[in-house]
Parts: sequence; C-alpha cells; structure tokens
Amino acid sequence: MNIGRLITFEGGEGAGKSTQARLLADALEPHTGEVVRTREPGGTHSAEAVRRLLVEGDTGRWQPVTEVLLHYAARSEHVHDLIRPALSRGAWIVCDRFADSTLAYQGYGLGVDHQLIAEIDRLVLQGLCPDLTFVLDLPAELGLARATRRAGGEERYESMPLGLHQRLRNGFLEIAAAHPDRCVVIDATADPESVHREIWDATAKRFGLPV
Ligand SMILES: Nc1ncnc2c1ncn2[C@@H]1O[C@H](COP(=O)(O)OP(=O)(O)O)[C@@H](O)[C@H]1O
Ligand SMILES: [Mg+2]
Repeated sequence: MNIGRLITFEGGEGAGKSTQARLLADALEPHTGEVVRTREPGGTHSAEAVRRLLVEGDTGRWQPVTEVLLHYAARSEHVHDLIRPALSRGAWIVCDRFADSTLAYQGYGLGVDHQLIAEIDRLVLQGLCPDLTFVLDLPAELGLARATRRAGGEERYESMPLGLHQRLRNGFLEIAAAHPDRCVVIDATADPESVHREIWDATAKRFGLPV
C-alpha cells in the first residue's frame, strides 16, 4: 500500500517544470517530512543511462514506438528502484515529468497509437498513478524561447519541429481534461513566484496542508 504521495509536473519544453518542481519540493519539506526530488526520463543510475539515449543525438534516431519503449524502460527502473520504495516508506515524491509526457510526446506529438501506449503503461506501472499532476501550459513558441536559453547537451526534443510542440501542448490539455481529478492546469506564462503560489494553493487544498 502507498502511504507516500506522488506529485508530477508535466508540460512542454521551457514551461517551468524544473523550476516549479524545486519550489514545490522546498515548500513541502517543512510540512511533510521526507521529500524525494526526481525526474524523468531518469531518476536512477540505470534510468539516467537510458535518458541519454533519448535526450541526446539526432531527432530522427529512433522509431517513435522504440522511443515509447525506451521511455518505459527507464520508467520501469525508476519506479522499481526509487518511486515504489519511497511511496512505501511514506515519502512525498516530486517528479519532473512522468507518464503523461510519453502520451503527449510520443502519442500526440509523434503519432504512436494511444491504445498501445496505454497497454505498455499498464504492463509497466501496474496501476501506479500520480496523486496530483500539474500541467504547466504556455504557447509552444514561448516555452521554446525560454528553453533555448538553457545550457546545452540535451536538445533532442527541443530541436523537433514547432508543429510537434504545438500538438503536444494540445495533448497535455486533452490528458488533463480526461483526468480532472488528478490534473491541474496552470497558466505558466506568469512570473515564477505567481506560478508557484497557484501550485502551492492547489497542493495545500488537495492534501490539507496550511495555505
Ligand atoms: N515563470 C517563468 N517566467 C519566465 N521564465 C521562467 C519561468 N519559469 C522558468 N523560467 C526560466 O525558463 C527557463 C526554462 O525553465 P525550466 O524550469 O527549466 O523549464 P522546463 O523544466 O519546463 O523545461 C529557465 O531559464 C528558467 O529560469
Ligand atoms: Mg526541465
């Protein structure tokens, strides 16, 4: 049985996921005890090795379905070695990207059959689902402009065509609409402190923490 909590951040490139994951983890710590900060693809030694296959190199280096399998290979390691043990000991996990990113990028973005992704998800995660997911939403052009200011080496997804980034933005919004109890869509165009306040309010309300 899970006694911890899994909170995930989703959205396109440069939406502010890493920034907001850090701010939320900082804010949770005084209220919740152990907070585990992690990310996907990656989060464990073996999963980070798979990450490099996904975020580095030519945009066309994988068949889209191979990319789904690689993301779930990394996720399988991450869930087995880090997420399930942390949930079992009651930790609060803040994860920068999770399974919704695979459906958005490889499903909505690259055209892999959504049902196939759902079946792989069932096989690997066996029902594991975040308790709360923030979908950081902003126009693809704005996110990409933010993202290209970052230090490099992991630009494979950023280098994909604008149309893909527009499709996956729409994908994230459809995923959020399909799971209204789990997902909260946040306008990510505001300044980081305002975005954080909105995220904290939603988190506090969801879990009964002080606002
Ligand atoms: N709300 C914001 N407004 C303006 N710039 C932001 C905001 N949030 C993050 N940034 C900046 O945009 C860039 C991408 O943010 P980051 O958190 O790395 O996004 P992501 O993890 O979603 O790709 C960073 O340089 C970050 O400092
Ligand atoms: Mg990031």
